[in-house]
Amino acid sequence: MNVHESEKIAGILTESGYVPCERAEDADVIVFNTCCVRENAEQHAFGNIGMLKKLKKDKPELVVAVCGCMTQQGDFARRLSETFPFIDLIIGTYNIDKFGELLKKTVETKKRVIEILEKNGEICENISPLRSSFPNAWVNIMYGCDNFCSYCVVPYVRGRERSRKIEKILEEVKSLVNDGYKEITLLGQNVNSYGKDFKEKGVDFSRLLREIGRIDGKFRLRFMSNHPKDLTEEVALAISENPHACKAVHLPVQSGSDRILSLMNRRYTREKFLSEVSMIRKIIPDCAISTDIIVGFPTETEEEFSETLSLVKEVGFCGAFTFVYSPRAGTKAAVMDGQIDAETKKDRIMRLVDLQNAINRADSEKYVGKTVEILVEDFDEKKKAYMGRDERGKMAYFPYSEKIVGKFIDAKITSASGMSLIGEVEKVKG
Ligand code: 5AD
Ligand code: SF4
Repeated sequence: MNVHESEKIAGILTESGYVPCERAEDADVIVFNTCCVRENAEQHAFGNIGMLKKLKKDKPELVVAVCGCMTQQGDFARRLSETFPFIDLIIGTYNIDKFGELLKKTVETKKRVIEILEKNGEICENISPLRSSFPNAWVNIMYGCDNFCSYCVVPYVRGRERSRKIEKILEEVKSLVNDGYKEITLLGQNVNSYGKDFKEKGVDFSRLLREIGRIDGKFRLRFMSNHPKDLTEEVALAISENPHACKAVHLPVQSGSDRILSLMNRRYTREKFLSEVSMIRKIIPDCAISTDIIVGFPTETEEEFSETLSLVKEVGFCGAFTFVYSPRAGTKAAVMDGQIDAETKKDRIMRLVDLQNAINRADSEKYVGKTVEILVEDFDEKKKAYMGRDERGKMAYFPYSEKIVGKFIDAKITSASGMSLIGEVEKVKG
């Protein structure tokens, strides 16, 4: 979400006549697009902004701007402006379309501008992102979140769920495919809620998937994230019948313990999650399921943590983003009794990561000797090899003498190297 939002900010800057540069010293404007979903992201932002102090002193005409989730949270904008008096522009998440205008105001008046709105407004459709993730293109299908998981700050900083009009999404996807993008990733905090805020019925996530399925051309379709409480058979069928959709679903489970899931306000049980996994695998054979997991949620016992481990084993996720619980001001969980100490959290995350790594390695081994279709994403200068992924999201490296970024190839997998695969190109398909 934030990466794509940065592409939008870069788009606004381009329209205002700016061009990207490599080094901070050469910049006229530096924008920090912040995240506050976990404390370490926040500390990162503070550290990086602080590092500009000297540069700004040497070059007072440099404009330093801060936007993103952090600015929208509690009294953060005030704290930021007090801690870093050299910041010129602070803008919240609900008025990012005004970024160009406010930047102009800052530059012209040489005065600090701070504009944070209290509530989200309508979706703004007139920003053209400066994309930097070819051959993938991110496409927002909705903004905000109404779920209020008890640990999560997103609903407070991104506002209520609002879906983009289906025609706008289809228009964007078609034009990206025409422009040569080979992978479209639909973005929403909970893509399964798509369309629930529309007055007229009949437009939901499965309908959107089916409409995208009718677009001509060879491209991959991905989407994230799904909420297990909302992923229906209808959606699984729409994936399995879609010629573009990858056999991959990102389904954040967060915990394997019913008591913790209930405290997290996730509104599903372990059993419901497991039956959903079976349903997905029945309808989409070989579907890769990845997840997000939090360890050390307040009051989580060793036994409850081991239920997470056993669930991870039982499902065999093809990948997991694992997080140590981080208290976020304003959320219910932050004020719960029974916060877990840092050492226990560290121990738990290490055991979880070890388990998931072992699962990933075993998964990689199964590829050896097979030929898979890879979309080539990049050239890795260090490894002197191209990098790409198969439709399940498995990463592979392979040498090739010509430029092939953005092409589909068939690669024969010769060995597995931990998480990723090593192969050789059998056929470049274009
Ligand atoms: N602490 C740790 N992890 C969190 N996430 C969201 N909020 C927190 C928090 N307070 C994780 C969840 C979510 C992912 C995007 O970030 O696992 O799915
Ligand atoms: Fe946060 Fe839950 Fe919404 Fe995801 S679904 S953004 S975890 S509140």
